[in-house]
Parts: sequence; C-alpha cells; structure tokens
Amino acid sequence: MQCCVVSCEKPLDAAYWEAQYKAKATAWDLGKVSPPIQTYVDTIKNKNITVLIPGCGNSYEAEYLLDHGFTNITVIDIAPTLVADLKEKFKNNSNIQIVLGDFFEHQGEYDLIIEQTFLCALAPTMRQKYVWKMHQLLAGEGKLAGLLFNRTFEVSPPFGGSKEEYKMLFAVAFDFLKMDVCTNSISPRANSELFFELKKNNTVKVYLYEFNGITCSGCMESVSKKFAAIDGILNVSMSSDFAEVLIVSKNEIAVEELQNAISYDKKYKIKKIS
Ligand SMILES: C[S@@+](CC[C@H](N)C(=O)[O-])C[C@H]1O[C@@H](n2cnc3c(N)ncnc32)[C@H](O)[C@@H]1O
Repeated sequence: MQCCVVSCEKPLDAAYWEAQYKAKATAWDLGKVSPPIQTYVDTIKNKNITVLIPGCGNSYEAEYLLDHGFTNITVIDIAPTLVADLKEKFKNNSNIQIVLGDFFEHQGEYDLIIEQTFLCALAPTMRQKYVWKMHQLLAGEGKLAGLLFNRTFEVSPPFGGSKEEYKMLFAVAFDFLKMDVCTNSISPRANSELFFELKKNNTVKVYLYEFNGITCSGCMESVSKKFAAIDGILNVSMSSDFAEVLIVSKNEIAVEELQNAISYDKKYKIKKIS
C-alpha cells in the first residue's frame, strides 16, 4: 500500500483544497495552458464537442478552448473560493459551465475529458474509481486525453505513476491511441510527463465494487485471479487499499457469481457500487 506525507495525515477533501487556494499554496498552477494540451487542442476540428475539465483549478485550458472557438465546456472543482472566482471571471461567457462539486458525484456526457494534474491530486486509492467514473462520463466515442506524471514524488500530492501502471489501470475499458513521454512539457516537468489519448471502449461493461476482507497484496492477487478466471471478465484491477475492485467484462457479471468465486474465505464480501 502506497503511503505519503499528506494523505495519511488528512483526507484530500474540499477543505484541504480550499485551504491550499486560500493560502495561495498552488505550486501546481502554471499560470497558462499546459503546452502539450495546447498542441492537442489545436488538432481538434469540431469546436462544438462537449468538453469536461475535472479538478480545473484556474482553468487556463478552458480559457484556451474558449479563445479558440469551443462552445460547450464544463469545468468542475471542489474548492469553493476558486470556483467563486471562476464564476466571476467567466460570468459573461455562455460557452462555459462552472460547477462547484465533487467530480465523482458529477453527472453528464462528454465527447472529451481533459486531464491536467487531476489524477495526481487524488489519493492513489481512488484510481480505480477514476477509471470507472471517466468511462461513465464519456459518450460512446468519447476520449480522455491529457497529461500524467511518469515519475514518483517523495512528498505527495502530487502522486506519480508510470506508463506500465497506467496501462494496467485503463486496460480494456479504454483503447490506447497514445501514451508517450511529452516533448513539449514546461521545463520543470521535462521528461516526467506522459501525453495520453484514450478512447472509451464502448463494447465492454465497467463496474466498480466495494471489497471487504483483504489485508495483504498476496490475497489481492489470489482474489484478482479468481475473478479474472470467470468467463466474460476481461480485466480486474484492485485499489491499493484493497477496498475497491474495478471489473471490465463482456457482459454484466452477477454479484453472486463474483461472491461465489471467493467463497473459500468467509471474510471476503463484494458489493456493487452504483
Ligand atoms: C493539483 S490541482 C490542479 C488544478 C489544475 N488542473 C491545474 O493544473 O492548475 C488539483 C485540483 O483538483 C481539485 N480537486 C481535488 N479533488 C477533487 C474532486 N474530487 N472533484 C473536483 N475537483 C477536485 C482541487 O481543488 C484542485 O483545484
């Protein structure tokens, strides 16, 4: 299980992020659109697609989209002071919707979701939930694109990762169009960012389950193998605290079938999250 300086002490909730903005402790803020995202946006021809930017912060990416003719942008952030400022800043622009709220509670359907230092701001235990939620929020042919850190950090957030880890995380739920080390990152992030573009795999079911009873990675591997052996299951990924499991399958698998597969240990309990 991955530990870190901040998240083990306090949750990375609205109060945490609000305090960062109030204290102006926003070291992640580039003050401008991230160059690799700018380059990507410049390739998009249809400016009327629905775009979501979760954990939007000061929303330079949204500003760039607006300046380049995009007409249907939604940004969401959990920090109230930041969102109040954004509402003021964009008050005369009907091409952008600004939402104060938790991304994981958000409802909608988007053609494109842009990732810019949002995944790295979440506790690593949230990563399976992130994949599940992204898959839910995307339209049939929808894409998730942006930047991911290709390194680890001694003090977190941000929480890093690697290409191998992200490939396993998003496997089958998404088709990989691109995931490469960026050549045009800002200099402090040079060679430490991956630009990725994933397309929703609309032919599979992606479900998230609450899991109880696992206390070690050996047991996690055994449970994952049991699930992976069930006919129709294409990928299994468990959160680093063993509390959630993401299952990608051809068809919906009855929760009873999952429970039966792990009936060798009476402590194990699985419940679908909706
Ligand atoms: C590291 S900052 C990045 C902000 C912005 N993307 C940027 O690059 O400047 C992470 C942002 O995610 C927001 N955030 C964290 N958890 C969130 C959640 N569950 N739902 C929505 N926003 C969240 C924080 O308030 C913060 O603005």
